[in-house]
Amino acid sequence: MKTIDLRSDTVTRPTAEMRRAMAEAEVGDDVYGEDPTVLELQRRVAELFGHEDALFTPTGSMANVLAVASLVAAGQEVLCEASAHIARAELGAHGAVTGLTMRTWRDARGQVDLAAIQEMYAPDLGPFFVRTTAVSVENTHNFAGGAVLPLEDLQALRTWAGSVGVGVHLDGARIWNAHVATGVPLASYGACADVMAVCLSKGLGAPVGSLVVGSRDALAEARVRRKRMGGGMRQVGVLAAAGLHALDHHLDRLADDHANARLLAEACGVDPETVDTNIVVVQRDDATRFVAGAKEGGVLVSPVGPRAVRLVTHLDVSAEDAKTAAGVLARM
Ligand SMILES: Cc1ncc(COP(=O)(O)O)c(C=O)c1O
Repeated sequence: MKTIDLRSDTVTRPTAEMRRAMAEAEVGDDVYGEDPTVLELQRRVAELFGHEDALFTPTGSMANVLAVASLVAAGQEVLCEASAHIARAELGAHGAVTGLTMRTWRDARGQVDLAAIQEMYAPDLGPFFVRTTAVSVENTHNFAGGAVLPLEDLQALRTWAGSVGVGVHLDGARIWNAHVATGVPLASYGACADVMAVCLSKGLGAPVGSLVVGSRDALAEARVRRKRMGGGMRQVGVLAAAGLHALDHHLDRLADDHANARLLAEACGVDPETVDTNIVVVQRDDATRFVAGAKEGGVLVSPVGPRAVRLVTHLDVSAEDAKTAAGVLARM
């Protein structure tokens, strides 16, 4: 029996064509800034989002830490949604490494709540309060089931944040999915943020790789911090080549993942209209039993809480696989 792995879009394996692109990549020492393939990837991604520069990192978590640190210093705070990846799933890196604090607003769909943000915002009051220097948003929002943040909300946030001198960080690990689902140009999302983190190793199917995207000055600082964290990599063009290949060949096909996710949602009794992209969250009182039962049927899904199960579609799940998995899950 074939196992259909819906635990995450990070489980994909590089295709034969991607491996070929990796094998043939021109490389150099990237700590010296001499890897042509990394330089090409950084140039291309910066251009896609309309920013000055980009920096290749091994993980999305490191990209987020570097990106947020470009806006928030030790002893200052970033505001974010309560289930944001930076708050819940980066193991406290922002506090531990950067020394910043976080306060959160809560939204079941991970959306921007500008009124709540304005209420929480703390200007510089000298020695009395922690000063807010950034707001972080996540598009698409992982733990809110791949929900898309509407462009108008992001634009309104950027306008207000600019007016009070606060920076905007966008965790765009799956910004590609938002772009394909809505048709909003990547540069329009880029224009809503001072600094972004984007991942090549989620929906795009590269084995490794993320980038920080932002201004030349912010990126110069991030390059130093990356090295300090042990993230200075050498002939890493072999990995950047996978990212370039993914941008060329795996972006438009995300629409297939979104269609497959809606099929799975229907099978699980979730309204497909609530599924914006490639993630489905199923509320089940018996989450652990559901996960075990699905596994017996050859379908891997992950628990994301005592009463919630997550299914994620990706490059290695064909339409046929999605139909088979939907059959197994519908029976449960
Ligand atoms: C929204 C979001 N941001 C950041 C990350 C971190 O990426 P990485 O696992 O490469 O550290 C993830 C990982 O799944 C994510 O879903």
